[in-house]
Amino acid sequence: MCGIVGYVGERDAYPILIKGLHRLEYRGYDSAGVALINEAGKLNVFKAKGKVAELESFVTDKDTTGHIGIAHTRWATHGEPNTANAHPHYSESERLAIIHNGIIENYSVLKAGLTQEGYTFKSDTDTEVLVQLIEYTQVDRQVDLRTAVQLALQQVVGAYAIVVLDQEHPDTLIAARKGSPLVVGIGDGEYFLASDATPIVEYTDKVIYIDDEEVVTINKGRDVEIVTIGNVQKTPEIKRLEMSLSQLEKGGYPHFMLKEIFEQPRTLTDSMRGRINVRQDNISLSGFIDNRERFLNAKRIIITACGTSWHAGLIAMYAIEEFARIPVEVEYSSEFRYRKPVIDKDDVVIAISQSGETADTLAAIQLAKEHGAFIFSICNVVGASIPRVSHSGCYTHAGPEIGVASTKAFTAQVVALTMLALCIGREKGTLSPDKYLAIVRELGQIPDKIECVLGQDKRIAEFAKMFMYAQNFIYLGRGYNYPVALEGALKLKEISYIHAEGYPAAEMKHGPIALISSEMPVVVVAPRCGTYEKVVSNIQEIKARKGRVIAIVTEGDDLISKIADFVIEVPCTEECLTPLLTVIPLQLIAYHIAVVKDRDVDQPRNLAKSVTVE
Ligand code: M6R
Repeated sequence: MCGIVGYVGERDAYPILIKGLHRLEYRGYDSAGVALINEAGKLNVFKAKGKVAELESFVTDKDTTGHIGIAHTRWATHGEPNTANAHPHYSESERLAIIHNGIIENYSVLKAGLTQEGYTFKSDTDTEVLVQLIEYTQVDRQVDLRTAVQLALQQVVGAYAIVVLDQEHPDTLIAARKGSPLVVGIGDGEYFLASDATPIVEYTDKVIYIDDEEVVTINKGRDVEIVTIGNVQKTPEIKRLEMSLSQLEKGGYPHFMLKEIFEQPRTLTDSMRGRINVRQDNISLSGFIDNRERFLNAKRIIITACGTSWHAGLIAMYAIEEFARIPVEVEYSSEFRYRKPVIDKDDVVIAISQSGETADTLAAIQLAKEHGAFIFSICNVVGASIPRVSHSGCYTHAGPEIGVASTKAFTAQVVALTMLALCIGREKGTLSPDKYLAIVRELGQIPDKIECVLGQDKRIAEFAKMFMYAQNFIYLGRGYNYPVALEGALKLKEISYIHAEGYPAAEMKHGPIALISSEMPVVVVAPRCGTYEKVVSNIQEIKARKGRVIAIVTEGDDLISKIADFVIEVPCTEECLTPLLTVIPLQLIAYHIAVVKDRDVDQPRNLAKSVTVE
């Protein structure tokens, strides 16, 4: 996730670019940079580690003049978040500058070839490889810049949205996309380019959405030209933006939480990008590859986290034990840090945190480190404290999560942990190649399947109204879906302030069944897998006591549909991936009940997004 913005016209480019970066900062904020061509025709690049505000402080005494420029806010993928890895990147001659959103999967092969040709690299990024490849192609083949971009992109495997600025053509920007968004804004004698329309909307409502494998040339004196990377001419289709400036922060959604729920197909694609290969038959997690022996030799894995992240950890316990056959313990960080746990130097400790700043989880890591354990973190915020103090880790790349109730971060954590479990299982030989392949393939289908579940939002909103006066809820699930039941109950509690408890379904008869009456809504997570028949019996037990059952079932489940009071269907998938689908209706139920109760959905009382105190 990165934000890219470009401008060419009569106005000063710098203020437009900086404002655009602020709008795109939700896409990443570990570094920012800008490139401008001044009146003397010099291409200046300025970059700073950290947020856009750091870049603004850095350039106060610099030459930021010019009527053409590009700018970038980065979410680190290749290379740590530092100034050298910040975009824009120069080409070898410093005649070209590039900004890029995406991942070039075959960058190391391309880099080796360019190194042989004498090219040198100042950063660890895949992006610098691309700008060098474009310059090399142009010089070697003696072609114009657009042709060089087309030829270079023909060699690239991966995803990109790029914009290239050429010192020798100070009126022209060349951009292209594949798998990462890119929008052109058409003003009066000026053009804008951005990752989404948010930096553009205050200047024009006329936009062109660039399609995959298209290369666009924008020159302030000419019409927009689009060709494919294979050189087929395209007719630009101008669309009118239907959004107001005030809607933009929430992307048109009434709350950040709803926006984040609906973002999940895209955030999970981002979480898997560059990790699951294009053939969808292999997972490559650098944090695992670099520490392969630690995982393979682990006698035990301890997972530590809080709240929603702890629920993701519980799901990981099921996956790691099933695929890698390593014993797993899942610990609340707040308990672990104080209960004098037995920790061995052969233990691997996985710390999970969206914010990367949770005080209890930081303290749990510190304790485990003192005992010599290896610390691997699963984190969403790049460069936060937890990844910094860990030995290694894996970013979830779900993008900034603003709603206090965690939604998209949870599913991204589950995806990252499942990929890790699959990598360990495959390397240990405890997971069959066929099963591995089936799950990897199915992971690739999950974003589309979530989209299907989201399609039921209006129906869920309608039925949520019936439960606005409920005082209590019970959530039940088994196996992989027991943690989903806990997560559904937590979502409802924190934003609607309705008391809710999650249980393993079979535990009902050991106590909680005493609570069942016609006043008690019971949400049962019951996809058709694992202990399905047992869960059907649990539903019968609830109905026999007049409980009201809301069931989350697999598409086409005729059995539960006949017993339950309300049914929400999710597509069929591998058992270990069912939480990624079954949690979506629970997020929507909690959201819509909170809305009808007129709660402050994004900032519920007494809560904070990042819990940095004990
Ligand atoms: O940033 P972290 O993942 O470490 O935060 C942990 C919990 O504070 C967090 O998941 C909290 O439970 C959420 N508000 C739940 O929606």
